[in-house]
Amino acid sequence: MTVPQQRTADRTAASGAIDFTVMYATHDAFRRDLSRLAAATAEGRAVTAGVRAGWENFQHQLHVHHTVEDAELWPRVERAVAHRPADLALMREMEEEHARLGPLLEAVDHALSGSSSGSGAGTGDRPPADLPERVRELADVLGAHMRHEEQSALPLIQEVLTPKDWAAFRGGMARAQGPRGAAGYIPWILDGIGAEDRRAFLAAMPAPVAVVNRLFLAGRYRRRDYWGS
Ligand SMILES: [Fe+2]
Repeated sequence: MTVPQQRTADRTAASGAIDFTVMYATHDAFRRDLSRLAAATAEGRAVTAGVRAGWENFQHQLHVHHTVEDAELWPRVERAVAHRPADLALMREMEEEHARLGPLLEAVDHALSGSSSGSGAGTGDRPPADLPERVRELADVLGAHMRHEEQSALPLIQEVLTPKDWAAFRGGMARAQGPRGAAGYIPWILDGIGAEDRRAFLAAMPAPVAVVNRLFLAGRYRRRDYWGS
């Protein structure tokens, strides 16, 4: 699970350390989405417009998150630990774990489309019988990867990178999202979040974000009815 003292913005800001609030909030949003997908699957409503929309958004958010980590974060750490083989190996594991998710995402996508080639292939609005297993597999592998990142990679990043490096990584993330992507990302993170995590996340974002979200983004996000919830 997550490490409480690394989640709060105030404490890290005061110590001059890197603030991982946004990273944890993003990981938590991935966990939340996969438990909603598992619930929809268990309740027999996986083949609905809301679940399809939630799944498309989940895939998009995960793609942006991992692409930018691969391009902007791990290489920075690799340069900082160039003479530390164990730490270099950890960075390779991060990249490999990202790559391993590709076929698992595809398998869920095919199953949700009712196009699984396995024995349990679905018809019409009934998903293939193997959908729960595919969802569980994805949740297990992504969950293990995020735990690995939180328990091993983030402490290494805290040790070898600076808040300036981290700001550059977050800048890369913002560029990859673009203004439209950010408009979807913010309410997606805040969907169902606890009060303390909400306060910490908004404190880690530029000041107008809370108001813009309340006035515009949250309503637009709700109308998309992700996961039919
Ligand atoms: Fe991450």
